[in-house]
Amino acid sequence: MKTRLILSLMLVVAWATACGQPGQRGKQAAGNDVPVFLDDSKSIDERVEDALSRMTVEEKVAILHAQSKFSSAGVPRLGIPELWTTDGPHGIRPEVLWDKWSQAGWTSDSCTAFPALTALAASWDPDLAKLYGVSIGQEARYRKKDVLLGPGVNICRTPLNGRSFEYMGEDPFLSSTMVVPYVQGVQSNGVAACVKHYALNNQETNRFVTHVKVDDRTLYEIYLPAFKAAVQKGGAWAIMGSYNLYNGQWCCQNEYTLNGILKGEWGFDGVVISDWGGAHDTDQCVEHGLDLEFGTVTNNPSAASNTYANYYLASPYLEGVKSGKYDMKTLDDKARRVLRLFFRTVMDKNRPYGSFVSPEHIAAARKIGSESIVLLKNDGGVLPLKDEGRILVVGENAVKMMTVGGGSSSLKVKKEYSPLEGIRERFSNAEIVYERGYVGDVSGQFDGVSTGQDLDETRSAAQLIADAVAAAGEADCVIFIGGLNKSTFQDAEGADRQSYELPYGQDAVIEALAAVARKMVVINISGNAVAMPWAGKVPAIVQGWYLGSEAGHSLADVLSGDVNPSGKLPFTIGAQLSDYPARTEAQYPGIPRPEMSKMGLQDVTIYDEEYSEGIFVGYRWFDHESIAPTFAFGHGLSYTSFEIGDPKVSGSIGKGLTFSIPVTNTGKVAGAEVVQLYISAGDSAVERAPKELKGFSKVYLEPGKTATVKITIDKEAISYFDADKHEWVAAKGDYSALIGTSSDALSKTVEFKY
Ligand code: GLC
Repeated sequence: MKTRLILSLMLVVAWATACGQPGQRGKQAAGNDVPVFLDDSKSIDERVEDALSRMTVEEKVAILHAQSKFSSAGVPRLGIPELWTTDGPHGIRPEVLWDKWSQAGWTSDSCTAFPALTALAASWDPDLAKLYGVSIGQEARYRKKDVLLGPGVNICRTPLNGRSFEYMGEDPFLSSTMVVPYVQGVQSNGVAACVKHYALNNQETNRFVTHVKVDDRTLYEIYLPAFKAAVQKGGAWAIMGSYNLYNGQWCCQNEYTLNGILKGEWGFDGVVISDWGGAHDTDQCVEHGLDLEFGTVTNNPSAASNTYANYYLASPYLEGVKSGKYDMKTLDDKARRVLRLFFRTVMDKNRPYGSFVSPEHIAAARKIGSESIVLLKNDGGVLPLKDEGRILVVGENAVKMMTVGGGSSSLKVKKEYSPLEGIRERFSNAEIVYERGYVGDVSGQFDGVSTGQDLDETRSAAQLIADAVAAAGEADCVIFIGGLNKSTFQDAEGADRQSYELPYGQDAVIEALAAVARKMVVINISGNAVAMPWAGKVPAIVQGWYLGSEAGHSLADVLSGDVNPSGKLPFTIGAQLSDYPARTEAQYPGIPRPEMSKMGLQDVTIYDEEYSEGIFVGYRWFDHESIAPTFAFGHGLSYTSFEIGDPKVSGSIGKGLTFSIPVTNTGKVAGAEVVQLYISAGDSAVERAPKELKGFSKVYLEPGKTATVKITIDKEAISYFDADKHEWVAAKGDYSALIGTSSDALSKTVEFKY
């Protein structure tokens, strides 16, 4: 014991010496008396091995589970700090109490809310994803958080999924391309991205007990690519397991997805973190790849709350290691991974210090927002609006704060500019009139954060419509701003939408206004597709997204033409729910099993869910079934026009086939276009989707100018996953590259062989 004490004292002295003055690189003590794990001139793996060699079994187990709601232990004796995690993908969650979800009541944690990730995806601009990741990573770092619990990249399989707004749409290639720079941006701050929810968490209904049944080809072609890209191209330092089951096991303790695919096939060297409460069994957590357990609600009757010592990877694990039930090799692998996370974050003395709600972050939020907005329809050039006349703004979403609510991604912001505020500010010469039009969700509270808004309304629905229609008759232009919101059964965690139609009687309001308005724009604020039965009656339609702190400014930038819209839909907007593939109960929300099952100590009903549509998700399904959507995946208009010239092809699919595509701005204002390339396979041994997105590039052009966009594809772009061989196959044969500006506007075709 005395030796250990002397060693510990020596370490403290060495640590103090090595640290030198705060903010400076630690002075290297003379000779080699700085322990390797404290010597940042050594490689991370050398430091990991040295730290591991100094740790007791108790210390190794202690770093594998939470010690509070959002933190896990360090190694105090060695001077390795504790690790702090934070939600969420759109901004840094306000501080909560040590062991509760409720607010800590800090006055220094009001953040920048960046646009929701569906908005980022809709920008189709990887450079913006990098800007996003760098900015939110700086905010996390400034708030002394070491792991950002995001981004989410689950594929949008059903438009009813409550959390689609947190994800990047329906296509694996778009999600894969956009997640990589986001992860790299976050981690450039010495903050880990924790990509979630791995895997197959495509709904909120029964999210804890849904058992997904999906074939391997669909798993690998549709639901895994974004996670694989985040790991192999983005270098993600952490992955969050999902709540649901797959292949008969919970995804936070899943042999196939965690040990087999993630750590085996993909070579992931980071940490698998459970979703909060996603761990259910010590044996499976230990043997099936979980490294860091959070949020377990221990059912220990004497537990004051979430007694952390009772976590599956806490005392039960320690006892099992000591009894020889669990081997040291597995424990050391888990500890090694968590130590690697320490040395990538809290132990990196040179990582930057971050920044919080800086002008740069506000500008980034505004830029990402304005570049994500999708102009769906603009008949007669209703948009952009002139700053003149009388403009009537109608709808609750013109005023309702959207940064509060929606579940774990909910935020407390310094300021959120509403669409109405943005419009009033930008159209200062016009007379702006507001009518509520309908009442949606008047609450303004989530997790103890209040919007401070009073949205109470005494008028009846009929009166609200009558007042809006009367005002519309006096206006030069009507802007209806509605859609969904962040309340339960809307765009929110924990429950899915209960219908595909707009809620709160909005369709009737829109129809009534369209009947009298001289000019009209409908702006849909949502993170999901919605039914638009009035689309033929409204000349201009905009998909507005949840745009965060700068919502009003981003929208006004586009409505005024200060920014030319360049967003493209990251998911299909179908006419009705039955147009989508998950149409039977077995497909969604799943069929309850008659027998009860165990989830930890709880008896639960498991819901078996068949992804029987296979790879035909999103536009793949609409194409396969020849269903015309209201607005197609990849669709988005501009205030200018573009012409796609004849592509030139060079190289080979084996070494890289490059399509050089001339794009001309044939209109009168500058703008950006997204050139998209889809691959269609000829005769094939397996059924293929009619076309699949395999390349895109966004180009900004002044009027009259031409640029050549280059898109290079390789064998990956023509391959399908052969489940029998368990490998990707690039089959010989004929292929077509379909090139254009939307999945339903592919004006150029290039045939090629492989
Ligand atoms: C939640 C969410 C997850 C979040 C975590 C911590 O249940 O599923 O996305 O990061 O718990 O709040």
